[in-house]
Amino acid sequence: MIPDPNYFEGIIQRLNTGIVIVDQVGHIQFWNQFMKLNSGHDREDVLGKSIYDIFPEIPQSWFQKKIDTVYTLQHMAFTDWKKRPYVFRFPTTRPITGEVEFMYQNCTFSPLLDEEKKVAGVLIVVTDITEVAEQTLAMQRLTNSLEREKREQQKLITKLEEAQNQLLQSEKMAAIGQLAAGVAHEINNPTGFVYSNMGSLGHMVEDLMAVIDVYEDQLCRNGVPEAQEAVRQAKEKYDFDYLKEDLVSLVKESKDGIERIKRIVEDLKGFSHVGESEWQMADIHKGLDSTLNVVWNEVKYKAEVEKHFEDLPEIECIPSQINQVFMNLVVNAAHSIEKKGKITICTGQRGDQIFISVADTGCGISQEHLNRIFEPFFTTKPVGKGTGLGLSVSYNIIKKHHGHIEVNSTPGEGTKFVLWLPVKQPEIETEQEAAQS
Ligand SMILES: Nc1ncnc2c1ncn2[C@@H]1O[C@H](COP(=O)(O)OP(=O)(O)OP(=O)(O)O)[C@@H](O)[C@H]1O
Ligand SMILES: [Mg+2]
Repeated sequence: MIPDPNYFEGIIQRLNTGIVIVDQVGHIQFWNQFMKLNSGHDREDVLGKSIYDIFPEIPQSWFQKKIDTVYTLQHMAFTDWKKRPYVFRFPTTRPITGEVEFMYQNCTFSPLLDEEKKVAGVLIVVTDITEVAEQTLAMQRLTNSLEREKREQQKLITKLEEAQNQLLQSEKMAAIGQLAAGVAHEINNPTGFVYSNMGSLGHMVEDLMAVIDVYEDQLCRNGVPEAQEAVRQAKEKYDFDYLKEDLVSLVKESKDGIERIKRIVEDLKGFSHVGESEWQMADIHKGLDSTLNVVWNEVKYKAEVEKHFEDLPEIECIPSQINQVFMNLVVNAAHSIEKKGKITICTGQRGDQIFISVADTGCGISQEHLNRIFEPFFTTKPVGKGTGLGLSVSYNIIKKHHGHIEVNSTPGEGTKFVLWLPVKQPEIETEQEAAQS
């Protein structure tokens, strides 16, 4: 038995889904109970009227395009609440949390065909999707906050890794520093007395020469010829004139040598203050010179070093750490040179920044490695020669000093690193920043 058409109409009216039929220009031809309940408009009030007049909030050109598409293509069209939360602005019927003001909807637009298979109207089905939307949005918020937390944790992990790497290198530096300080201390005492003895020896040689001059003078005037002849022969045998001249310069050279040893010992002592972490105003050139002396052994067989130092003001820094960065750059430069090359060190000031550049004529860095050289443990050196921490630690030290490192390299030609550092550190670090560094 085919049920009465009113039977179906009754079902459609009671569906918990909005059913609207419009013609090609948007005039309403059908309207079910759901639409009436949610919009407050009776079926009699809307039939034959334009849907745009009943719902002025509907974006007309967008809506009309949907209808036109259905008419032209005879296909179903769809709108999703994520793209367009609501087509019809219905107040929500379930104030679930109080946060949702309007009913979220998914809508389908389907063609209704007449007997000739032509589109006679568009059936719009409006589904209330508020609950799902609510839950999805809540989930999205949760996911976002979890991701935020994850990013923060990742940042923390990176900081911890940096701190650990810095610790590793500073332990190495501290060990070298301790050794250097020990050696410096041991050499300091003997050097001290040799230096002072050399001073006395210089004076004594002068006095001795003065006495010999008197002897000679007296011998010339009052001496018997045999005595004069014996002295002349002795002088000739021992090349007295040369001896007299050379003795003075020998003592002078020795004094210079001892002075150099004293300077190296001073440098070693200065360099060994690696544990020191005091911010202070420091002369960068002094640090560069003493560090260069310390690593001289690594450098001297590989490269001649050229220095171009401009006048620099004292800068606010932790000198031992800047020395450590400089040492890493110079040692890397020396390692990059296979046989014999040149290392050029320049300094200068531009505005309130100073720069220190270290350029070498070594093997250069390939493009693919250039992106990785600041990574901890990235090294191209054989086991035992490099740990791959030098540049990563240097990067962090310079970052802590509010500066930056530039690098330029051409494989086969050489590499240039430039350190930029502010003369004065930005106003006192915030507590947070201090805790982070
Ligand atoms: N001046 C340079 N010329 C060519 N390559 C360089 C230069 N400086 C750094 N590199 C490349 O970058 C890598 C990383 O340098 P980094 O100083 O961090 O570590 P390392 O020198 O290998 O080991 P470490 O310094 O810990 O003893 C080096 O292994 C090298 O490949
Ligand atoms: Mg290195």
